[in-house]
Amino acid sequence: MKLTETIQTADWKAEKHVPVIHIAKEDGLVHIKANVGEEVAHPNTFEHHIAWIKVFFKPEGAKFPIEVGSYEFKAHGEEEIFTQPCVEARVKTDKGGEVYALSYCNIHGLWENSAEI
Ligand SMILES: [Fe+2]
Repeated sequence: MKLTETIQTADWKAEKHVPVIHIAKEDGLVHIKANVGEEVAHPNTFEHHIAWIKVFFKPEGAKFPIEVGSYEFKAHGEEEIFTQPCVEARVKTDKGGEVYALSYCNIHGLWENSAEI
């Protein structure tokens, strides 16, 4: 089985692992927000948490996606500190295309979502 075949997706309103993507354009920048658990909270404990989110952008007509950023969440209960699985990125582009977010739960694996610019 290929790794890509293990990537799961679903309706983020019902499935707590799916990254939710919000896009806004402002002053020539594309603001991208990606977070997990917006509608249905995902656990955030040492034993069960979202470990990272990666964001990609594939401009229209491009062959491959470009990695926008990679965000690791490292605090899972130390001294009662919990990093929330939420990231914001700003991209300077006037191109349209597809934004992808990929998240990783340490128990339930890889989850993806996408949104159009
Ligand atoms: Fe999970």
